[in-house]
Amino acid sequence: MRLAVIPGDGIGPEVIAEALKVLGEVVPAAEITRYDLGAARWHATGELLPESVLGELRQHDAILLGAVGDPSVPSGILERGLLLRLRFELDHHVNLRPARLYPGVRSPLADPPEIDMVVVREGTEGPYAGNGGLLRKDTPHEIATEVSLNTSFGVERVVRDAFARASNRQRRHLTLVHKTNVLTHAGSLWSRVVEEVSLQHPDVTVAYQHVDAATIHMVTDPGRYDVIVTDNLFGDILTDLAAAVTGGIGLAASGNMDVTRRNPSMFEPVHGSAPDIAGQGIADPTAAVLSVALLLDHLGEHESARRIEASVAFDLATRDHQSPGATYGIGDRLAALVSSNVRTG
Ligand code: NAD
Ligand code: IPM
Ligand code: MN
Repeated sequence: MRLAVIPGDGIGPEVIAEALKVLGEVVPAAEITRYDLGAARWHATGELLPESVLGELRQHDAILLGAVGDPSVPSGILERGLLLRLRFELDHHVNLRPARLYPGVRSPLADPPEIDMVVVREGTEGPYAGNGGLLRKDTPHEIATEVSLNTSFGVERVVRDAFARASNRQRRHLTLVHKTNVLTHAGSLWSRVVEEVSLQHPDVTVAYQHVDAATIHMVTDPGRYDVIVTDNLFGDILTDLAAAVTGGIGLAASGNMDVTRRNPSMFEPVHGSAPDIAGQGIADPTAAVLSVALLLDHLGEHESARRIEASVAFDLATRDHQSPGATYGIGDRLAALVSSNVRTG
């Protein structure tokens, strides 16, 4: 197993160091190459993602990334030039973001139901990929545009993936989240594609919600969701919210996947570089550890992935969530749990 690791910025290297301890326990033979992409490299050389590095990354089975983004770099430089460029170049069209309320984890909701959903976020289109521009900059009549790109090909492939995942889950329920009442062009495309693909999945029940209403239900009734399929930007916003209701951003894992397997997929916590807590050793690495489990699942190492998940579940059930030091030494703790093959229901 050849893995590329991009620790990145802020808490990225902190959470990746812990995640690698767990990975080392389940797949000791994994061959790991580190890439020092991120703010420090940009400051030192002006480089974001050199072609030669991109070429090397392509030679790996998968990529594990911490986070990118730093207050010393103008907003968007690293995010667009490194993270989004990786997602686009490697055709990571399915951005998989599970959100589950683990036993023992406290949700900010007063009386949380069972929550177990997966957001299938489109990863290569939407406003992230469309052209935009500034006109009449530095005048009182400045105009800024960001165009949302939605192709029939792009929408169809992510919707097909979401239906396939829904089909394989117990509840077999899929919710399209969009804003068809305002974004009538993209909305029409997404709705039609969902309707067409649903004909091939009579086993999956389908619902639709506008994104604003979805943020209400995500808080008042998150148990209703099973699979959510949505565009790149709505998926970004909804998955931070889904993470919050299931116990916090420190637990939310994700996979940026090219499901055709032509390119290596990339796994990373949903969170960012968290400059507000970087360097303090208090970042929760659980999301990075669970991202390793998603990576192993993707590479067919299902048994190893289950071992990691079981260890995380055990740790979360027994962790003192109130203690400020709750996340200290988690990598070693989880590695020990994994090696003792802990099982939970
Ligand atoms: P963020 O996710 O970095 O932080 C949001 C809040 O969550 C902060 O209060 C932070 O302390 C907390 N938090 C995040 N991860 C945590 C963890 N593991 N344990 C405990 N608390 C955690 O989002 P932001 O502040 O909007 O962005 C900071 C930087 O990260 C920006 O440059 C942004 O562009 C970038 N970013 C990168 C990624 C990525 O690399 N995938 C994702 C989101 C944001
Ligand atoms: C995420 C992040 C990224 C996104 C940013 C940093 C480009 O917020 O992975 O959720 O919007 O996809
Ligand atoms: Mn985000």
